[in-house]
Amino acid sequence: MTRSLVTGGAGFIGSHLVNALVARGDQVSVLDNLSSGSLDFLASSHGAFEFHQLDLLDDEFDALLDGIDIVWHLSANPEVRTGITEPEVMFRQNVDATRLVLEAMVRCNVRDIVFTSTSTVYGEASVVPTPEDYGPMEPISSYGQSKLEAEQLIERFCSEDGGRAISFRFANCVGPRSNHGVTFDFFHKLRAEPKALEILGDGKQFKSYFHVADCIAGMLAVSLAEACPNGGFTALNVGSEDGIDVVTVADAVCEALGLSGVEYDFTGGVDGGRGWEGDVKRMLLAVERLRDCGWVPQFGSRAAILDTARWLDENY
Ligand SMILES: NC(=O)c1ccc[n+]([C@@H]2O[C@H](COP(=O)([O-])OP(=O)(O)OC[C@H]3O[C@@H](n4cnc5c(N)ncnc54)[C@H](O)[C@@H]3O)[C@@H](O)[C@H]2O)c1
Repeated sequence: MTRSLVTGGAGFIGSHLVNALVARGDQVSVLDNLSSGSLDFLASSHGAFEFHQLDLLDDEFDALLDGIDIVWHLSANPEVRTGITEPEVMFRQNVDATRLVLEAMVRCNVRDIVFTSTSTVYGEASVVPTPEDYGPMEPISSYGQSKLEAEQLIERFCSEDGGRAISFRFANCVGPRSNHGVTFDFFHKLRAEPKALEILGDGKQFKSYFHVADCIAGMLAVSLAEACPNGGFTALNVGSEDGIDVVTVADAVCEALGLSGVEYDFTGGVDGGRGWEGDVKRMLLAVERLRDCGWVPQFGSRAAILDTARWLDENY
């Protein structure tokens, strides 16, 4: 039986991962400070995992690593816009917390880590769809930079401390329990004002959105032994195989909520129509590497948004 520790396991993606690990028979411990996660997200696995309400930055957690085979390190601040207003918070939560996890792993002799990274590490890639070996990696946001620095710490853990790691670089993940991002924002804005919708930027930002069911299937499609047969660090992209623009996202959210004739009000954005400083205007990931491991995504971008907006409509 695999003994898994999931940091951030009460969050949006983490809770789906925990449910899947429990279902496949892992012995699962969850570490989460519940800053954005919720125990309600884990209700369907109630009693089948250990839960520890701890903060990676403030609390001692070595004891949780005793006997653990693999750490799934999802805890982070995933809100790109926090990086604009409070970059130091972003770096503490994403880089310092990752360093503390790796140091504890070294002390407790745990070698295997799966990390959740992001498409934003590539910055404004000149190759789209962007493959894992694209370079130079030049993030344009604090979020992307913080995740790249965390990846570099993990690479060093692999080369100097004998670790093995997969870093999954996600496009925009959506689905049930989605708690941030454009679909979530549009849903709440439309709930408050169903006749008009403010859209950040020029609405032409083109990105890949993928469903959390495909995300979890991707994360479980390949083991560390398969991905890193000689040890070391491997990056794998996860995303849908298509992209859509923000207006299409807005149309899909309106459709899911049964709204028509909504007036779109574009802010115009910054620097050529970006929604905010550091917003990548065009993002689509090459996902052949994961496909070669047998992973087949079930949702395109629009279908993933529709499913998310319907879930939000039923649950809020
Ligand atoms: N959702 C996406 O589209 C997306 C895209 C790319 C990468 N990711 C990455 O996937 C991971 C999960 O993202 P998510 O969307 O589920 O976000 P989320 O906010 O729902 O999950 C993060 C979890 O970590 C916990 N947490 C945060 N700081 C902590 C700390 N210091 N100590 C303990 N727990 C802490 C939060 O309470 C939360 O449960 C993150 O690493 C994120 O950067 C997400």
